[in-house]
Order: sequence, then C-alpha cells, then structure tokens
Amino acid sequence: MKFSEFGARFSGRSGTRDLMDDLGAVAREPSRWINLGGGNPSVIPAMKPLFDDALAAITSRGDWPALLGGYDSPQGYQPFIEALTDDLNRRSGWNLTPRHIMTTPGSQASFFMLFNLFGGYDPAGRLRRVLLPQSPEYIGYSQSGIAPGQLASCRSRIELVGERQFRYHIDFGALPLDDVAAICVSRPSNPTGKLASDEEMAQLYALARRLDVPIIVDSAYGLPFPGITFVPGTVVRDDNTVFCLSLSKLGLPGARTGIVIANPDIIDALTGMNAMLNLAPNPLGARIALALLQQHDLVALARERVLPHYVERSRLAQAIAERALAGLPWRIHASEGAIFLWLWFPGLPVSAEVLYERLKARGVLVIPGTYFAPGLPAPWPHLGECLRVSYAQPDAVLEAGFAAIAAEVGAAYRGG
Ligand SMILES: Cc1ncc(COP(=O)(O)O)c(C=O)c1O
Repeated sequence: MKFSEFGARFSGRSGTRDLMDDLGAVAREPSRWINLGGGNPSVIPAMKPLFDDALAAITSRGDWPALLGGYDSPQGYQPFIEALTDDLNRRSGWNLTPRHIMTTPGSQASFFMLFNLFGGYDPAGRLRRVLLPQSPEYIGYSQSGIAPGQLASCRSRIELVGERQFRYHIDFGALPLDDVAAICVSRPSNPTGKLASDEEMAQLYALARRLDVPIIVDSAYGLPFPGITFVPGTVVRDDNTVFCLSLSKLGLPGARTGIVIANPDIIDALTGMNAMLNLAPNPLGARIALALLQQHDLVALARERVLPHYVERSRLAQAIAERALAGLPWRIHASEGAIFLWLWFPGLPVSAEVLYERLKARGVLVIPGTYFAPGLPAPWPHLGECLRVSYAQPDAVLEAGFAAIAAEVGAAYRGG
C-alpha cells in the first residue's frame, strides 16, 4: 500500500502503539501478564462506589437517548462545562467563563489538536515547532506533529541525589529557541515522576511571554484533579496558559475524556478542530464528571482518596525495588507525582529495548526509556539505561515484576 509521508510516519511503529498493543494483550489474557507497562490507573477502592453511584445516576432513568442517542456540541456537554467553570472559579478565582473550557475525546486527542494548531508550517512556509523543555518527556507526544521535525527538545541535566536517587533539571541554557510556536510540559511528568518546580515554571511562563507563544501545561496527573503530586507546587493560570486535564488518571481512562482550559480564542479554534476530527467528544465522561461534581467536591475527593492511594503505592514500590535490586547499580528519579518509577541502571550493558524484550518473554511488561524522547535531535544513550515502571498495580504484581527486573538486569550486568 502507498501511504503519504504523514500516513507512513503516523501509522508506523511507535512507542505509543507498542504500549497500547501490550495493554490490549493484557486485556485479552490478564493472567498471562505482569503489567508494569502502560499508564492504566488503579481501580481505587475508595473511588469505586462513587463511580458506581455516578454511573447509576446517569443510566437509571432508562433515558439512554439523552446519553447516547445524540451528539453533544463540539465544545462538549454544556451543563458539565458550566458546572466546572463555577467550581474552578469558586476554588481558585480563575475568572473563567464557559467559553474558557471544552472537552475532547481524551488528552491524547487534545495534544494532537494543540500541537498542530500551533506547530507546523505557517502561511509563509516556515516550520514552527512545539518546544518540549523537559527530556525525557511523555511518549504520547512523539510523532504527533503532522510535519516531520515539528517537536523540539533537549536533554535535561542530571543531578545525583544521595546513593539511590537522581533528579532532572530543565537545561534553560540549551533549549532550542528557533521558530518556537508553543511550549509544552507534563507536570507531574510522565515518565519521570518529576514535578517541575515553581521556579522552573516561572521561567517557562516568562520564556513563553518573551517568545509570544502559549504554554501548554499537561496536568493529566496534576492539579486541580486528579492531583497526584507528592511535593508542593503552585498552579498558575493566565491568558497565555493552556491547561490540559483528563478524567483518565482519576480512574476513568475508558471514558476517553480530556478537558482543555484556555483563553476563548484557543477554545474556539480547538472546537473547530474537534468538529472536524471527531464531530463531538464522548458524552459519557462529562456526564459522570457532572454527577460527581453535583454530589461531591471533586478536588477534595482527589486529595482525600486518589492522592493517598498513590503516595502509598509509590512508597511501597520503592521499598520493593530496594529489596529486589539490592547489590545492583541502580537509581530512581525522585518520586514527586504521577504513577510511575523511573529506574536508571548506569552502565547497563544491554539497551533498555533488549531488556524490555527479555522481560516480555518472561511475561513482564515495562516501557524502555528510549521511547520517551519526543523532539530530541539525536539518541540519548542515558535513556537506553532507563525503564519506566508503573506502580498502579497490586502489591503481588509489583513483587513479581521487580523480581524479574532484578533477574534480567543482574544477568545483563554479568554479561548474560
Ligand atoms: C502525561 C500524559 N498526558 C496525556 C495522557 C493522555 O491521557 P488520556 O488521553 O487518557 O486523557 C497521558 C496518558 O497516559 C499522560 O500520561
């Protein structure tokens, strides 16, 4: 078959496709796999009854045509948009109107639209790029620019912390600043668990203003919900900020609902794109979220039920890693949020992709670090020594997964 250049690139092999295929394999045969791979959130026992109630509230009337029998507007379900506007204004004084908010079929779709709304060839034929100031950065941004070379990034600096930890810092002096169309940062970061500091965010906001481009803050794990952040961090919204939220990490990835908060001109443009690409977003997520907003304080729920769950999972995963990997050279990135540990095996004699294949042959799924390099101009050997491991799964899964990682990493260091 003959595909276009974009078609070939977009449909070809990608980390995102591998990751989602792995999740599909787990869904088909759950008992065969130890899944520390894709970003599936936990089914949090303290949240499940609330989702049960919200689902019951929107389905019990037997009024399915109101739910699934029509299209919402391409901006999304207005009662939810209005309720979220009121809620956010009440708690944070953000001064929003319903024209500042829209929903999409998941954040992944939000990023595709945003990266191509701002990035790509301008009317004068010049390629304008989305700057990803952190690297490593979210796998799902890779290849999501329609034009090749539309994403630009540079390696973060590494600070060693104590015996076992390390932390990335944005290398402001090395950022590629030519032809920037927008800046985008995941906060907290998938894959590393880093929460970009308030100082780094202030510098990025100032850079965005200086370059006269918007700054996109990917808050898929962050504030106001699901609020999976373990260290303090302030959220600043101004007219130049595009906030991307999602219901996924609250526990509803199947609802495919992303939320964008931005100035009305951007929301209007994205609404047009949403109409072209999707006609309308998925109705289910917005209705569940509306039922939750009407019955509870969603932000407080996240703080009181979601956050403690992941604080505990992170602590437990680090304790399991400590035991399993004793005697091997390894470090983890400081765990400041999200649902992953980012492991670094300095000097690992095989690449992380080989390690991934060997672990997969044992039925253990992880993600090799090399996949988290969107926008880097050249491969970064350091990422070939890193693995991303989800800690959302139950304890026994983590124990078995880390035992396998220790066995394979140990064999690799011994030359096996
Ligand atoms: C940092 C980040 N952004 C965006 C997404 C996409 O989320 P969704 O499309 O499920 O809303 C994810 C999912 O894992 C993510 O980790």
